[in-house]
Amino acid sequence: MTTTPPVTIGTPLSPTATRVMLLGSGELGKEVLIALQRLGVETIAVDRYDHAPGQQVAHHARTITMSDPAALRALIEAENPALVVPEIEAIATPELQTLEAEGVVRVIPTARAARLTMDREGIRRLAAETLGLPTSPYQFCDSLAELQAAIDGGIGYPCIVKPVMSSSGKGQSKIDGPADVQKAWDYAMAGGRVSHGRVIVEGFIDFDYEITLLTVRSVDGTSFCAPIGHVQVSGDYVESWQPQPMSPLALERAQQIARAITNDLGGHGLFGVELFVQGDQVWFSEVSPRPHDTGMVTMITQWQNEFELHARAILGLPVDTSLRNPGASAVVYGGVDAAGIVFDGVDAALAEPGTELRLFGKPESFVKRRMGVALARDETVDAARDKAKRAAAKVQPRR
Ligand SMILES: Nc1ncnc2c1ncn2[C@@H]1O[C@H](COP(=O)(O)OP(=O)(O)OP(=O)(O)O)[C@@H](O)[C@H]1O
Ligand SMILES: [Mg+2]
Repeated sequence: MTTTPPVTIGTPLSPTATRVMLLGSGELGKEVLIALQRLGVETIAVDRYDHAPGQQVAHHARTITMSDPAALRALIEAENPALVVPEIEAIATPELQTLEAEGVVRVIPTARAARLTMDREGIRRLAAETLGLPTSPYQFCDSLAELQAAIDGGIGYPCIVKPVMSSSGKGQSKIDGPADVQKAWDYAMAGGRVSHGRVIVEGFIDFDYEITLLTVRSVDGTSFCAPIGHVQVSGDYVESWQPQPMSPLALERAQQIARAITNDLGGHGLFGVELFVQGDQVWFSEVSPRPHDTGMVTMITQWQNEFELHARAILGLPVDTSLRNPGASAVVYGGVDAAGIVFDGVDAALAEPGTELRLFGKPESFVKRRMGVALARDETVDAARDKAKRAAAKVQPRR
């Protein structure tokens, strides 16, 4: 029999403080920080630029290049947090593995999970080749010639090309026929996070719908939130809702896949497992070892939203993943390229009962930057989706 040590939480800004460092302090990190603050944790918000959303609500704000191993080590050693919580992928994760191995710090959920998931190759090979989970057919390529050979050799058309190091759909495009191959390769080379041009080409899955299955590993074991449905445009989420109706068999398979991948990644915390569904068939796509953007809907649908669940799980506290009511989220984009923008129509957006809004407070807006999210609850998912989209449309960003 194993016993878990009792959890103690100290007093912020005192020698007893329980200190937690977020690596990445965007809109998702901001909500994790708020959840930690509410539990009396002392928080350190790190980002690559000043006044990031999470830095505005934390005890301490630090700005460094998180992909620089020396800078990352120096900051962690100076701050000496009990936990380091990655919020983004672009971090010097090998250095986190070294620091974890040296016993300097605990990384959430584990440094290995952060490292495997920052690269599409690490997580895809683990899921498909080690764990035998169903995925799209795929191949990794280092040149245009290899890409063409992979397509001709079995991947076929249509297919999708993605840089191995990228997120939010950057550098990703669909290839419908031979005429698109060169364009997709060039686009991937321009959109990747690092210049060494490796891509994954995946067979296109003609799914009925796709879900994020939020999966929590806590002291209570593994628990699942109700499935979240979502719509992606150019690889970026624009709308999500919960619960997504599923056949009992598809749900069971989705949970089996999510359990297998999160068990292997280990540690404590919330994971966003992305899955494609067609009838009763389910494919693993990818997983975030942290709260997921489509999961922002849980701020209006669950008793404990995904950020609170993450905060509780990493602190060793019990969790409750149950749904409170159906709801939806709709993204508010910047619409303009400018710093210090203004939002009109917030009053109109919030006029309907059961509507909420989060404005992230990002110092600079871009046309396609996510600046906020509208949330709605209603009797049904369909009514909530309509309401969330109505609310989002009323918010008017301007210079
Ligand atoms: N093999 C595929 N077949 C069909 N659709 C796909 C496939 N791969 C990706 N997509 C579509 O593109 C979206 C984005 O893909 P993916 O999640 O791999 O990219 P990403 O850049 O990691 O995006 P994000 O960071 O927003 O999760 C998916 O949610 C899905 O809608
Ligand atoms: Mg994704």
